[in-house]
Amino acid sequence: MQSRNPTSQILTWTAVFLCFTTLTTAVDVSSIKDHAVWDQLQELAKFSDTPPPSVTRLVYKKHDILARKRIKELMKEAGLTVQEDAVGNTFGRWEGSDTKAGTVMTGSHADAIVLGGAYDGILGVWGGIAAVAGLRKAGFKPTKSIEVVQWTSEEADRFTEICFGSRIATGYMKAHELDKFRDDNGTTFQEAASAAGYKQASSQAYLDGSQLDAKTIDSYVELHIEQGPLLEADKKDVGIVTHIFGPSLSHVVFNGSGGHAGGMPMANRNDPSLAGAELALHVEKAALNTGSIHNVATTGTWNIWPNVLNAVPRGASLLFDIRDVEDKRRQKVIQALLDGAQSIAKKRKVEVKAEVVYAYPPITSGEKVLDAIKSATRELKVSTMELMSKPYHDAAFMGLVAPTAMIFVPCRGGLSHHPDEYSSPKNVGDGVRTLALTLAKLAGSSEPSQTHAEL
Ligand SMILES: *[C@@H]1O[C@H](CO)[C@@H](O)[C@H](O)[C@H]1NC(C)=O
Ligand SMILES: *[C@@H]1O[C@H](CO)[C@@H](O)[C@H](O)[C@H]1NC(C)=O
Ligand SMILES: [Zn+2]
Repeated sequence: MQSRNPTSQILTWTAVFLCFTTLTTAVDVSSIKDHAVWDQLQELAKFSDTPPPSVTRLVYKKHDILARKRIKELMKEAGLTVQEDAVGNTFGRWEGSDTKAGTVMTGSHADAIVLGGAYDGILGVWGGIAAVAGLRKAGFKPTKSIEVVQWTSEEADRFTEICFGSRIATGYMKAHELDKFRDDNGTTFQEAASAAGYKQASSQAYLDGSQLDAKTIDSYVELHIEQGPLLEADKKDVGIVTHIFGPSLSHVVFNGSGGHAGGMPMANRNDPSLAGAELALHVEKAALNTGSIHNVATTGTWNIWPNVLNAVPRGASLLFDIRDVEDKRRQKVIQALLDGAQSIAKKRKVEVKAEVVYAYPPITSGEKVLDAIKSATRELKVSTMELMSKPYHDAAFMGLVAPTAMIFVPCRGGLSHHPDEYSSPKNVGDGVRTLALTLAKLAGSSEPSQTHAEL
């Protein structure tokens, strides 16, 4: 459209200018330097019960406590106000100008499995802090408040289940459930929490108080290494996670009468170990029969009892991990597991106890978080790929209460939960800068005039 009228021309240019300014946040995150963020991860990796390059940081043990202390210092250095809840979830808050608006949250976990690596989890905690520090340096002032969180006990290593901190914060775990979790030495979760200084972990009132009010959360975004090979294979800088598979755990115990491995005739046996073998194959078949590569079923642990060479087993205890991006399809496989356990027990004349311990739904990422990540990556000119996360993360629980998405960065060889886990300084830098801009977009700038000046 040609405009000859000068007033209308001015209006047109004003409109173009305004349009441009709303599309461009123009927050300069170039102060977030690859090596500086990467070096800090190496320092945090020293909080480990095992020598480098491995990192072992079991929840509430010495090095987990030391790492928490360091994280709180780093949060304070970045100008965040630090708070901890009853189980040690740690929140670093940057107050926005609109105190009534929901909070934009980011974070991950600081615990690490036995002989794990230096990036899983901790990247999203330190990365969140570094992103905030970068935004501050850029003079950014958020409208919505931003919080960086360090979640307690995401890994199952010490207490066999996952994501204690984010499940408590989202109301998916209660104090009385914590009683049943013991580590190898019989220490309960609450005893360990108490010894680490979180004495209120056994009180339901305190745990209720630790529950986040979903209405106060605007969105959640988690930065994490991919823990798989896709980004590296496709030479992409950043992964945009569209779905997180739902984690589930099922437990089956078979019991039989045992007997001498020589003396007991084959025909007289009711061997629970063989019932377990049959069930494992049955579950594999059920997963394959879905016809989807997105259905994965694993018989992860299998203990037989008494586990000696010359005795027919008397007990078998199996744990099944069944994941999918579609809840209905996964439910079918879980049902096949439960039905199979009963029919195999009947056929083999063993006793059976089969239960689904948990089955959390899969998460579809929130549109507005995905949009923010995409626009951040376009501005930063990093290459991207959309993918789904089969590993679970704290984001799998935050996604049940707020719009959520994840940012993945490549890790060498797709390797994770391994001492050789590695992401390059550039991978890490790209991830943190993407996170910073994503947070800026989600939180919004409270100073549009300054945004103009930067154009
Ligand atoms: C159990 O105790 C042993 C011996 O004191 C110790 O080496 C080990 O780390 C403990 N395990 C846990 C999970 O605390
Ligand atoms: C059943 O088997 C489990 C697992 O092997 C074992 O711990 C338990 O003691 C057994 N129960 C009976 C009644 O034999
Ligand atoms: Zn992790």
